[in-house]
Amino acid sequence: DKGGWSSFMAKEISEEPDAVANTIRGRVEGGQVVIPELAGLDELFVDINRIVIIACGTAAYAGTVGTYAIERWAGIPVTVELSHEFRYRDPVIDARTLVISVSQSGETMDTLMAVRFASESGAKTLSICNTQGATIARESDAVVYTHAGPEVAVASTKAFTAQITALYLFGLHLARVRGTQTPEFLASQVEELQAVPDKIASILGASEKIAQLAHWMADSRAVLFLGRHVGYPIALEGALKLKELAYIHAEGFAGGELKHGPIALIEPGQPVFVVVPSPRGSAILHPKVISTIEEIRARGARVIAIAEQGDAAVLPSADEVIPIPLAGPLFEPLLAVIPLHIFAMELATAKGLDVDQPRNLAKSVTVE
Ligand code: BG6
Repeated sequence: DKGGWSSFMAKEISEEPDAVANTIRGRVEGGQVVIPELAGLDELFVDINRIVIIACGTAAYAGTVGTYAIERWAGIPVTVELSHEFRYRDPVIDARTLVISVSQSGETMDTLMAVRFASESGAKTLSICNTQGATIARESDAVVYTHAGPEVAVASTKAFTAQITALYLFGLHLARVRGTQTPEFLASQVEELQAVPDKIASILGASEKIAQLAHWMADSRAVLFLGRHVGYPIALEGALKLKELAYIHAEGFAGGELKHGPIALIEPGQPVFVVVPSPRGSAILHPKVISTIEEIRARGARVIAIAEQGDAAVLPSADEVIPIPLAGPLFEPLLAVIPLHIFAMELATAKGLDVDQPRNLAKSVTVE
């Protein structure tokens, strides 16, 4: 039931604040993250020496966002890999490796095969899953469910924000258990996370401008997305959504990589979304991203910046600015992705496409 919305996707984007809030619920005690499902695993979490996150599609981008936060908080090496690539090379993993799978459906065959392979190799497995009792959840040593609710639209939206939330909760839980951060610092991060749902709601409330932009851009042949740090996987997610829903050639790049190749693609009129980090939270990266914007605009790009409200540097340099509320640097991706989800949906709608059932795609791919 679409509940009065024009599509499941529109409904599911509107549910992103609840998906985050419901994933946090029951997992904070006295200002610290305590995930009940992980009770009894403290010894394991102290013993592990690395984490590998495996996933496909959107879930892999949520996993990439997770790597930045878990490393920052828990001081443990974390890498992310596509399940099907991980499975068929010869990854070096052992009993001190924790392999975290991220899957909305919990049935993606590529990810299931990678989880089985990890178990057989002696690694410990943790599943971040949205579907109760799914195969990947059942076959893992532990599960942290995302509570995004059922997701019907083929392209994932609310499950993506819930996956990042679950990975963040895990990172904060791990940091507490491993004693890598002070309780005060961890409590400040928990507060930041708890503030996210209302901030997402405020972006949803101002979505008219994004819809307009999407209608103006309905004839674009290609759209580029740039981001750095946690903004990089958000750029990749923005590009994936546009490919999936609007069948437009879209590419996401790391901002620092631009000069190493992609800048050759910039020609007059080329639309480029840029995820701009907060000037307060990212004093070093912010000016670098601003100069990237200036460089591509000098070559005629049309820049749409997603930037913190009131960022004075971005206003004169971008063509369009989509403001997002103030948040700590690691929490910006949960906000910056919302305009990109809306943009892809609105652009596909403007082209008269079925946003819930894009051509050639399935919600859950149960073959390798
Ligand atoms: C793809 C879906 O086939 O599978 C994507 O179209 C999804 O939306 C990906 O992100 C992974 O799915 P899951 O269920 O493992 O998260």
